[in-house]
Amino acid sequence: MSATQTLTTKAEDPGIVSHYKDAASMKYGDWRDDFYKNGYAVIKNAITPEKAKSYQDRALDWVQSFDLGLDLKDSTTWTEAHLPKSFKNMYHYYCAGHEKFLWDARTEPGILKIYEDLWGTKELVVSFDGFNIGLPKRTDIQKMPWPHCDQAPTRKGLACAQGFLNLAPSGPKDGGLMLMEGSAPLFEEFFSEPREMFRPPGGRGPPKDFVDLFLFKQEHLDWFRERGCELMQVDCGPGDFVIWDSRTMHYASFPEGEEIRTVFYICYTPRAFGTQEDMDLKARLFETYRGTTHWPHCNIRASERSMVDGKVDPMERDEPLEKPERTDLVLKLAAVKAW
Ligand SMILES: [Fe+2]
Repeated sequence: MSATQTLTTKAEDPGIVSHYKDAASMKYGDWRDDFYKNGYAVIKNAITPEKAKSYQDRALDWVQSFDLGLDLKDSTTWTEAHLPKSFKNMYHYYCAGHEKFLWDARTEPGILKIYEDLWGTKELVVSFDGFNIGLPKRTDIQKMPWPHCDQAPTRKGLACAQGFLNLAPSGPKDGGLMLMEGSAPLFEEFFSEPREMFRPPGGRGPPKDFVDLFLFKQEHLDWFRERGCELMQVDCGPGDFVIWDSRTMHYASFPEGEEIRTVFYICYTPRAFGTQEDMDLKARLFETYRGTTHWPHCNIRASERSMVDGKVDPMERDEPLEKPERTDLVLKLAAVKAW
């Protein structure tokens, strides 16, 4: 029995993926065994290290395109005043999610194959997510961990597997993805009783209607540790792809070494998981260069515009610096064209 044969999810209920239990009990002899057991996997050399360097250069050109005096050779300029606005080094404003370099990465065969294997279909849609550029040893930002998962407790089973393409060497000092290994298979048990989400002090935190996000409290981390889970950092090399079940507890740690952490967030799900209404909305966001969360087929919300003093940031853009090529594959992954 293949994952394809058991892919029986109905579009009207995309959170309940009935093939999950069957797929998890199978032996694949590849990264999927780790993925189902631990909630994540590292796929080595999804693209070559040379290609990874080229993608990183293009992303670094982008972050220097704002005329803010940022000099990548001068660490005294690695401060908020010299950088476009981000959320913890994650860039979503300024039509970032539609830069050509990101779309080029989204159509890399070595990355597509990972998700084709996971879902058992080539008919995928991709998120319009952004990327992370982490300049090391910043002292002007708060580096508090924010352990969370990106799946609403009401969604059961494997509903989304988010990922990133890693572009720089990423060892223990280089920051990266922190994961509670083994937490994904415990998701339903954890949420089988009422759980109150962590709320940052001062009313900060996500809006109340923001779905597919749960911020964990310290006592919740203890709950997972008592069941044998461990918080660990994922090490990976340039060109590796990291995929994790969106039920996995995770956050990103900040780089403290010499490397500029550079990752592209990329995530696909089957087109069949989405409703026509959501796919139409997605297509409209593509045409207007607006971003989304990492969810490709549902929870489609237009990314916000960067705001300064209540007004749209003068640096905001109506289109990316370099527009993506409208190839057949791009248009299908964007839900503009039917598969
Ligand atoms: Fe996340």
